[in-house]
This record gives sequence, structure tokens and C-alpha cells, in this order.
Amino acid sequence: MQSSPTPELTQFAEDVLAGLSSTPKSLSSKYFYDDEGSRLFQEIMKLPEYYLTGCENEIFSQQTDAIFTSFANSGSGFDLIELGAGDGTKTAVLVDHFLKQKADISYSPIDISQEALDFLTAKFRSEFPDLRVDARNGDYFKILKSLKNGGGRRKVLLFLGSNIGNFTRQRSIEFFRHLREVMNPADLLFIGFDLQKDPHVIANAYDDSAGVTAAFNLNLLKRINRELGGNFDIEKFTHYANYRPIEGSARSYLVSRERQSVHISALGRTFEFDRWEAVFMEISQKYSLQMIEALAAESGFEIKQNFFDSRTYYCDSLWRPSPK
Ligand code: AVI
Repeated sequence: MQSSPTPELTQFAEDVLAGLSSTPKSLSSKYFYDDEGSRLFQEIMKLPEYYLTGCENEIFSQQTDAIFTSFANSGSGFDLIELGAGDGTKTAVLVDHFLKQKADISYSPIDISQEALDFLTAKFRSEFPDLRVDARNGDYFKILKSLKNGGGRRKVLLFLGSNIGNFTRQRSIEFFRHLREVMNPADLLFIGFDLQKDPHVIANAYDDSAGVTAAFNLNLLKRINRELGGNFDIEKFTHYANYRPIEGSARSYLVSRERQSVHISALGRTFEFDRWEAVFMEISQKYSLQMIEALAAESGFEIKQNFFDSRTYYCDSLWRPSPK
């Protein structure tokens, strides 16, 4: 009799299997953003401890003229292309200002979630009826490659919110080099970097008193239960975050409160957790200016201009491709 083939695992299932089979155990923070995770992240952005969003908003609302001057391509228009746009609130501040300057611009959010894109398209079309909005669903690099050389207009790629901080250094360089390959010489890349600062301020941002960040991390266990048939008991895990000032990285973990077994039916596997065993969940890198300069140089870019908030907590850095 022929044995039935093993059903193919989704990428999510494969990554959970690899992460929980390794020592130390880990789960990828890229899976935080199901519907509930995205809702919790919106809540995090409103927390008093989570200063990042306010800093970037301050830069965008206080320095819009200088940003516009830096983006503008000697009078001809430019296309704003946002990678992983979230709710688009910050970008809307820039777009509003640029349109008031009578700039000839368009806005293209790129995301893997069609739902997020539908929301952004509706939001931007209703707020800015004259703006050209061209949402693209899929892989950043494939879409950017298809846009290369198109029309000769400058593209300004936006990668905001210190999303880059959730990548390892190696992955950041690969990501920027890949972007460099699909950019034309006059295109620009605008990146949000959270800067190194008082370690207490950073540690609190990832361990808020209302427990929203804890819920955000624990939600990934609920997602595994729901989508992969896991039986995680959420009460038996606790969220722990710390900041390492030498490396400049905030890290978060879920720690098993007791010795326990967890079965995940989609993987056909049971995982053993020791008492106080930690599962690594997320890195949120904080940068020095030297680190930003080194990242740009190693990825084939030079810094055109840096924009800081009034407390120098945060930097939006504008890069141009360095000549080959
Ligand atoms: C999306 N990203 C930049 C957030 C951060 O600050 O690393 C995700 C987050 N994790 C906990 N709080 C917020």
C-alpha cells in the first residue's frame, strides 16, 4: 500500500518547527502581525513608553519643508514608494505637505497584505482625492524591479518606523544591497532608525506597564494554537524584555514558567520546555550614527541628509546610491 505523502508545511509551520527545534528556542517576530497582532501593534504605538512613533511624527510634521527640498528632483515630480506601509499615518503628513506645495507626486504602498493595501488606498484616496495612488501587492524586490527605469521619474523609497531594527545586521545589509540593485541613480531611500539613548527609556518601551507588549508577544502563541493546532497554555509563559547597551539591542523573550510539553498537531510534534526556559522572540536594534554610516557604506549608499527629532532619540536618514 502506498503511504500518503506528508502534507506540505506552510512557511509559517516550517519556521515554527525550525525555531522550536533549535537550541535556544526562537520564534520569528515577522509572524506577530496577524489581525490581532496588527491591532496590538497599533495600541503599542499609542503607549506613553513607546516613544518611536511620536519621534518620527515630530520629524515629519516639524521638518516637512527640509524633507521636501531633499526629495524634490530639481522641479520634476517624484514617486513615493512605501515598503510595509502600516496604517500610513506618518506618510499622510508628508503627502499632505507635498501636495500643498503643488508637488507632482504619486504614492505607492507595497505590502504582502491585500487587506492593508485596500485600507491604505481608501484612506489616501479619501484624504487626497487628487493624489495618484497605486498600491502593489507582493514581494518588495520583484515589484521594485518591475518599476526600475519606468518613466525616468525619481522614486523615493520609504522604510519607516525603525522596521529595519527587527532585522539582524547581516539581513539589513542584504536588504539594502538588494534595494540598491533595483534603484536608479537618482532614486532615494528614506529610512527610520531608532537611536541609542538612556537604556531605561528603551527598556521601558519594550516592557510597558499596561502589558500591551507582553500581549503582543504572547499573541504569537495564540496564533500557533489557532493556525497550527497548538496547545500552548498562554498563562504558563511570561514576557521578558531587556536592552543590551553594548550591542544597542532590545530583545524580547517568552519564558516558560514551568516544565511543560506543548503539542502542535500541524507539525505532528511535541516540544518540551524546561522551567524558566526562554524562547527568543524579537530583536529591536538601536543605532549610533557610526552604525548608520557603516550600514550605508557597506550597502552601496551615501547619506544625503539626516533628520533628527528635538531629543535626538530618532533619525530619519535619507540615502542615495553611491556611484558604482
Ligand atoms: C515594528 N517594529 C519596529 C517594532 C519595534 O519597535 O521593534 C515592533 C515592536 N515590538 C515590540 N514593540 C514594538
